[in-house]
Amino acid sequence: MKSIARQYFERIIDVVWSVLILLGVTLGAVYIPLRLVRNIDQSIFSYTIATSVTVLFILDIGYNFYIALRQQGSNHRRSRQSALERYIRRRLVIDILAALPITLITLLSAYPALILVRLVKMVRVRDIFTEWQRTALQYASTLRLIFLAYWLLIIAHWVACGWIALHGAPVGVTFQEYYIKAIYWAVTTLATVGYGDITPKTTTEMVYAIFVMLLGMVLYGYVVGNIANLLSNLDANRKRYYEQSEQISAFMQSRKIPRALQRRISDYYAYYWERHVGEDESAILDHLPPRLRAEVMMFLRRDVLSAAGIFGHADDDTLRDLAKELRPMLFAPGDIVCRMGEPGDAMYFVNNGTLEVVNAEQRTIALLEEGDMFGEIALLFDQPRTATVRARDYCDVYALEKQGFTAVLANHPLFQQHIRAMAKERQNTESHDSLEQ
Ligand code: CMP
Repeated sequence: MKSIARQYFERIIDVVWSVLILLGVTLGAVYIPLRLVRNIDQSIFSYTIATSVTVLFILDIGYNFYIALRQQGSNHRRSRQSALERYIRRRLVIDILAALPITLITLLSAYPALILVRLVKMVRVRDIFTEWQRTALQYASTLRLIFLAYWLLIIAHWVACGWIALHGAPVGVTFQEYYIKAIYWAVTTLATVGYGDITPKTTTEMVYAIFVMLLGMVLYGYVVGNIANLLSNLDANRKRYYEQSEQISAFMQSRKIPRALQRRISDYYAYYWERHVGEDESAILDHLPPRLRAEVMMFLRRDVLSAAGIFGHADDDTLRDLAKELRPMLFAPGDIVCRMGEPGDAMYFVNNGTLEVVNAEQRTIALLEEGDMFGEIALLFDQPRTATVRARDYCDVYALEKQGFTAVLANHPLFQQHIRAMAKERQNTESHDSLEQ
C-alpha cells in the first residue's frame, strides 16, 4: 500500500503536469490558426515557445506510460497491462502526431496547413477535465462550466481565424483591430444574433457563414441545456425542497387538514430543510464501503459526540461504532419524544434545542440541552418511561435504538458506568421538587 504522503505527492505532480499540458495545448489552439491566417514574424521567442511545447508533448508520452504503469492495482499484472494497452490503443498515435516537430516540417514543406495536425492533442483537454471532475467531486459542476466556457472561447477564436482567412485583412487596419472585428462576427454568428453589419460577400464566405450558423445552433442548444442542468443541480436540495413542499401542500388541501395543523407542518418542513436534516444521509452514504461510511458518520456526528462529555476518553473505534448507530431526528415545539409509562425503544442525544422532562404531576423537573442524553432508564432497567420528554423548541436529536445501545454498552464499559450513574441519580431526583417551584 502507498503511503498517504506519496499519494499526495503524486496527486500534486499530476495536477502540475496537467496544467502544463493544458497551457501547451491552449497555446497551440490559439497560435496555430493565427499563424496560418497571418504571416507572423518567426521571432526567437515564438521558436522557443514552439520548441518548448514540442518537448513538453514528447515528455507527455513518457509521463502517460508512467501513469499507465502506476495505475491502481499496478501490482496486478492484468490491470497494469490493460491500462497500458488502453493508452497504446486510444491515445498513443494522437500523442505521437502532436509531438512531431511540425513547426520544422511546415517550414521546410510546401504545406503549412500540416501544422494543424498538432491540434489533435485537444482531446487531452477533455481527459484532463474529466479526471479533475472525478477527483474533485465537490467542484464537478464548476469545472463543467469552466470546460464549456473554454471550448466556446476556442471555437469562437477558430471561427474568427477562418473568417480572416476567407475575408482577408483590409488595408490600413491593424491586425489587432481586424481580429476584434472577426471575433465580433464569430460570436454574433455563433450566438445566432447576426447584427448584419459585417456580411459575407463571396460564395465561399456565404457557405462558411451558413456552416458557422448551423454550428452556432447546435452549440447554443448544447450550452443552454448544459447550463440549465448545471444550475438546477447546483441547488438540487432547494429544488427537492420545493417539489416536496408542493406535494405536501396538495396533500393537506385534498385531505382538508385544519389550518393550525397545516401551519405546524409547513413550519416543521421549513426548519427541517434549513437545518439540512433533509439531506437523506443514508441514501447518499449507502453506496460507500462500510469503513468509509463509518468515518463519514463519525465526522457528521462529531459535534454531538464531543458535546456529550462521557465520550471524551472513548477510543476512535467506539466512537465510530456509536456514530454508525445514531439516527438523526427532528422534533417541533410541543412534540413528545417519549411519554411516561410507555415502553422505551431508544435513547437520545440532544444536538440542538431544549427539551423539558415532565413528571406525573405535569411539572417540569429538568431541562435538557445540547450535549445531554435522555431515555436511558427504560433501556437500562427494562422498564416503562419514568417521565415524559417534550420539545420546547425545534430540537435536533440523535436516537440510539435499543439494539445499538446494548451493543455499545457491552463494548464500552466506561459508557456503561457513566450512564448507570446518571440514571441512578435521575431516578432519585424524579420525586424531588419541580423546576417551576
Ligand atoms: P426514561 O425513563 O427512559 O424516559 C424518560 C427520560 O427522562 C428518562 O429515561 C431520563 O433520561 C429522563 N429523566 C428522568 N428524570 C430526569 C431528571 N430528573 N433529570 C433529567 N432527566 C431525567
